Amino acid sequence: MRISFAAAEVAPYAKVGGLADVAGSLPQALASLGHDVTVYMPYHRSIDAQKFGIPTAGARTHSIPYGAARARIEYPEISRDGVRTVFVRSVRIGRDKVYGYDDDAKRYALFCRAVVEDLVDTPPDVVHAHDWHAALLVPLAARARQLRKAATVFTIHNLAYQGRTSAAVLKLVGLPRARLPIEDRGEANLMARAIAAADIVSTVSERYAEEILTPEFGERLEGLLRKRQADLWGITNGIDTKFFDPAQDPHIAAPYEADDQSGKAIDKAALQKETGLQRDAAAPIFGVIGRLVEQKGVDLLTAVAPWLLEKGGQLVVLGTGDPAYEQKWRDLAAKNKGRLALTLGFDGALAQRIYAGADLFLMPSRFEPCGLGQLISLRYGTIPVVRAVGGLATTVRDVDADPRGNGFSFIKYESAAFSDAIARALHRYKADGEPWRQLRTRAMHEDHSWPAAAKRYVEMYMAAAKARRAA
Ligand code: GLC
Repeated sequence: MRISFAAAEVAPYAKVGGLADVAGSLPQALASLGHDVTVYMPYHRSIDAQKFGIPTAGARTHSIPYGAARARIEYPEISRDGVRTVFVRSVRIGRDKVYGYDDDAKRYALFCRAVVEDLVDTPPDVVHAHDWHAALLVPLAARARQLRKAATVFTIHNLAYQGRTSAAVLKLVGLPRARLPIEDRGEANLMARAIAAADIVSTVSERYAEEILTPEFGERLEGLLRKRQADLWGITNGIDTKFFDPAQDPHIAAPYEADDQSGKAIDKAALQKETGLQRDAAAPIFGVIGRLVEQKGVDLLTAVAPWLLEKGGQLVVLGTGDPAYEQKWRDLAAKNKGRLALTLGFDGALAQRIYAGADLFLMPSRFEPCGLGQLISLRYGTIPVVRAVGGLATTVRDVDADPRGNGFSFIKYESAAFSDAIARALHRYKADGEPWRQLRTRAMHEDHSWPAAAKRYVEMYMAAAKARRAA
């Protein structure tokens, strides 16, 4: 099949969150199954063109109508790991950061319009748009005569960001303004428009696909999503198991694998040394990697941290987030030198050393479409303690409920439930010895690689193609 992806961020070129990991590695997995995949992304100014060998000028240029004006778009491209990536380049689109500007909705609307302009020359079988930034691709493709046979798939990575904007944005790219029931007067909800119009809608875990049909997780779109329920798929993300591999990781002190975990203790000692934690082989290290924001349960973490440290645990935290929470964590770290190591920022290599050196990994998310941290930590034999929501519920099974379990989980979003799960984890960790090693071995043996997930995507594309033919 010929499949065209569109996403705002794609690893390794530009990454803000998990979307980039998926948009970077799923196309490769599809290509290795024999499909022909092109990925469209904006040519952000932060992209290191030299490093990746991306030409500055495009092989093709299009001048496209943009409101009363015209926008000139270039399409430089490269091929790598069997995937063609096209960088949509325009002064009206490219900025230093991927998101965070007042005119994001306009920039991304133009991005979608520009992608369609390029697609009509050689129509793909499937147009696959990701999150609200690429959402207008769906209605735009539906209106392009040359793309009438192309099936459209829209994937929701996070329903909390919908691209709610002024309806004037639609007119800029030549779309009718006719309002959806969910939209207020004068407003356009870009994600809702893709959900309403796509042949198939998907999201990134089985559980989240069920949750978003309810008011608790539906972010006001549950009604619309329920209407599309027959065409709604949940496919759990994979991770790049070559990149995240404790046996080959160039960033860690000692490699290890499921059958010989001796290196992990060396990585733990190295992590304690690097981050200024007390050198104590027996103290359980809890890792936290991710944005310090409400979605990730930062309030629960903040509430439980002092208790956890009192219990003899050590905490390594890496991430950035809400300034108010960053300050709270700075204060906590100052009070708990040697027991709490805080790095406010993003550092991929340090993240890998934390995945390797920590004993347990905390992820008490309020909601979690899939979550990648728990999958990476499983791969490194670092046992996850998670809230049982979304992808966390799909991928982590509590050992106290399931003898074949791989972690610990709690249900109610409250600190008592979270600390109870941690206490159960500590209890097992301290009993130590063979059972804990077996738990780690089980975690490391699980297969969360992309090939299996990619096959499900192919099934979904077939369903989308069938739906398109029927339409
Ligand atoms: C978003 C979601 C996260 C998911 C990722 C990739 O960042 O919040 O749960 O893993 O997208 O699909």
